Formats: sequence, structure tokens, C-alpha cells
Amino acid sequence: MRRRTFLDYCIGGGVTAWAVLTAYTGLAFLWPTKSSTTEEGSEGTTIALSEIPVGNASKISYKGKPTIVVHTQEGVFALSAICPHLGCLVNWHPDEKQIACPCHAAKFDLRGNVLGGPSPGPLESYKAEIINDQIKIG
Ligand code: FES
Repeated sequence: MRRRTFLDYCIGGGVTAWAVLTAYTGLAFLWPTKSSTTEEGSEGTTIALSEIPVGNASKISYKGKPTIVVHTQEGVFALSAICPHLGCLVNWHPDEKQIACPCHAAKFDLRGNVLGGPSPGPLESYKAEIINDQIKIG
């Protein structure tokens, strides 16, 4: 094989590999993940109770939206994690037993009601209940 032919093969192979990798990355970005198609259905979604012990919270995707699930002695609560003020993601603060926004300090109770700060309205809340060893949302 001539040197020139060998270099042509190398360049062609590199361009082909780049095109395949770019196409794969693009499709992987557009294709829904397995978890987003299996966790949510018309019946809602479930999380193992052991994943959110009492006093803790977890952020999940529910109906395609960031959702915070809080587990306290009072029960389980599922609320939109998107602050109604300017859209930052809220966090659970177990010491204060409040949900607070890190951006402008809006505070919410476990039902999403505004306790303080600039939020113009409550967090959207979803039905949440414990069934057997699962937290069912929706
Ligand atoms: S975005 Fe949450 S208080 Fe401003």
C-alpha cells in the first residue's frame, strides 16, 4: 500500500468516526431516557419508601417537571420544585421544616403555601401517598 493511500484511509476513517459519533450524540440527546418513559404514566409514578427516609427529600421528574418529594412524620408531600417567582429550584430545609428558594429566599410550607419572600403564589402540589413500601405520586 502506498503511503498516500494509507493516509487517505486514515483521514476517511477519522471523518466517518466523527460523523457517527456526532449522529449518535444528537440522537441520544433527543431520545427520551428509559426512566422518563417508565417512571411516569397515566397512573402516576412511584418511589421506594426507602429512598426517602423520614426527614429527607428528593428531587424527581414528574410529568416532565422537576418535583420535590418530602417525607416527614406528617406524611409525604410532592410539590413542583420550580419557584413561582423566577423559576429557581427550591430545596427542603429539614431544620426549619420548610421548602426555600436559594435565589431570593421565598419560603413555602409542605403544602406549597407561601410563608415569606417574593413568590407571587404557592408551589404546585401533587397527590402523594404511601402505599405499602412505595410513595405514589399522582
Ligand atoms: S426565584 Fe425563588 S424567590 Fe426568586
